[in-house]
Amino acid sequence: MEHKGFTLWFTGLSGAGKTTLAVQVRDILKESGYKVELLDGDVVRTNLSKGLGFSKEDRDTNIKRIGFVCHLLSRNNVIAIASAISPYRDVRDGIREQIGDFVEVYAKCPLEVLVERDVKGLYKKALAGEIQNFTGVSDPYEEPLNAEVVVETDKETEAESLAKIFVKLKALGYLASTGGDGYTKEEEKAVEDRLRALGYL
Ligand SMILES: Nc1ncnc2c1ncn2[C@@H]1O[C@H](COP(=O)(O)OP(=O)(O)O)[C@@H](O)[C@H]1O
Ligand SMILES: [Mg+2]
Repeated sequence: MEHKGFTLWFTGLSGAGKTTLAVQVRDILKESGYKVELLDGDVVRTNLSKGLGFSKEDRDTNIKRIGFVCHLLSRNNVIAIASAISPYRDVRDGIREQIGDFVEVYAKCPLEVLVERDVKGLYKKALAGEIQNFTGVSDPYEEPLNAEVVVETDKETEAESLAKIFVKLKALGYLASTGGDGYTKEEEKAVEDRLRALGYL
């Protein structure tokens, strides 16, 4: 199916829910027939950005690379999803300008909850001083000021956060039916049916 490309950009601290939500958005869109590609920070660091570390310079390089690939995909009508901490506001905003069709999702969660969750066991190590330059502990994180979507993952279920994202994408017209050569009513319905089946709507 033909559809407009855009970039869905997740930002937030480690363990806030970026990958969890990005993977589900990708799977739902894919199943519904959209062309979609996910660039996850942890995966990108094993290939596209292999060898880069966690200095400010290397972090910026990593995020700009992800942004550039999202730009290439989006302009070719692929939905690009990025899920990386992307701690610096000016870098995110630069990518927003480069891409234009850019939807920022802030996965927001208080540090206490993340330390409690400690999905990868990294906070324990960072707090013990075993890992340097850990975002939120010993390295900065600049919250988005105007994210299109803010998911509060300490208060919402995954389903609720996911529904918020889809509602916004629809409101912005990225998943809207045109009845013409773009999205058809059937395609739009396929997304809704899938969300409903999963209990998200
Ligand atoms: N509303 C929510 N959205 C996303 N993840 C959530 C939510 N509520 C709880 N979680 C949990 O938080 C964790 C997020 O981990 P992950 O997605 O790997 O974070 P990140 O990619 O941001 O480092 C998962 O264990 C997930 O089940
Ligand atoms: Mg992740």
